[in-house]
Amino acid sequence: MAQDTILGVGIIGGGGIAQGVHIPGYQKLSNVKVIGVSDPFEGARAACKTKFGIENVYADFEEMLANPEIQAVSVTTPNFLHAEATIKALRAGKHVLCEKPLAMNAEEGQAMVDAARETGNKLMCGYNYRFTPEVQTLKKFAEAGEFGDMYFARTIAMRRRGIPGWGMFISKEKNGGGPLIDIGVHMLDSTMHVMGFPKPVKVFGQTFQKFGKRSDVTGLMGQWDYKNFTVEDFAAAQILFENGASLHLESSFVAEQEEADKMSFQVFGDKGGLSYNPLKMHTEKYGTLLDITPAYLPKNVQSHHKEIESFVDSVINDKPVYTPGEQALEITKIIDAIYKSGETGEAVTL
Ligand SMILES: NC(=O)c1ccc[n+]([C@@H]2O[C@H](COP(=O)([O-])OP(=O)(O)OC[C@H]3O[C@@H](n4cnc5c(N)ncnc54)[C@H](O)[C@@H]3O)[C@@H](O)[C@H]2O)c1
Repeated sequence: MAQDTILGVGIIGGGGIAQGVHIPGYQKLSNVKVIGVSDPFEGARAACKTKFGIENVYADFEEMLANPEIQAVSVTTPNFLHAEATIKALRAGKHVLCEKPLAMNAEEGQAMVDAARETGNKLMCGYNYRFTPEVQTLKKFAEAGEFGDMYFARTIAMRRRGIPGWGMFISKEKNGGGPLIDIGVHMLDSTMHVMGFPKPVKVFGQTFQKFGKRSDVTGLMGQWDYKNFTVEDFAAAQILFENGASLHLESSFVAEQEEADKMSFQVFGDKGGLSYNPLKMHTEKYGTLLDITPAYLPKNVQSHHKEIESFVDSVINDKPVYTPGEQALEITKIIDAIYKSGETGEAVTL
């Protein structure tokens, strides 16, 4: 695209994440215009029109995709529509920023990546944690070799009473799974990003459903419909990579722990270790053990907005996207394998 043109953007799915971050994120940028929003829900269309002044609203996203003023779209629908909306958008000639997780399963994810390759359009996945100053700092130090050989990681996305009381997050059919595919994917992606995205080769996982189907459990994120809870409420996994490293992952919507919400990871290397939340690095120099805390990182950074800025920059300046569909597909393959392993009790070779 010519660098002085305005990028026309469409939004497929005008709900929470679209109104909360995608639309305001695009509208902050002087080289972008949000041309249209599609949503079958009248309330979402009306809100997008009145709150954000978006002129064109559509009940059917395919009608919106026919608008030639739109060159790029955000797919912000529930998970079960990510693949269909993304593939149709790519084939309609649009670049796509698809919310996480990339897809419900690896088969869908592969079809999305294939469609991007075949059409030559960009496919980015909304793993926004990569854009936090903390993860960016750790990535810089890791790339410079400060931690040496990073051989083990511990990754946590654990809520105490965090089953969402809205949306489709408790439906296996519509969301693909529970905390693992909803929040576990964020921390898994950031950990693997910092580790240089090693290739996963074997996965052993377990899933549990101990609280979600009960009527007597407090909801700190609204009260969900326990009768229709069909996903896991806790998952754990061990992931082995081709380079010999491994990663232990834990993810919950409900667990008996002190913190309401803990998103964190640690990576252990033979020259140093790192931790995200709290942000720390650990090493030894001249016979002295050191704990290093980065200081004066930028505050109040909206990582979703950074992600949107990065997507727009990639499209306008024809650069590779920072969170590529191919890597998001690897995450989806791991998630599939954890669910499969949880069912069979066997490790899954990828
Ligand atoms: N990166 C993050 O931090 C983050 C946070 C929240 C949600 N998400 C992801 O964003 C996606 C949406 O989540 P949400 O919380 O906004 O859900 P939501 O339910 O608030 O919004 C989804 C919207 O999609 C609309 N929709 C349904 N079918 C559609 C169709 N055929 N065409 C167009 N729109 C359609 C719904 O009517 C709804 O308004 C999910 O994939 C979720 O995983 C990401």
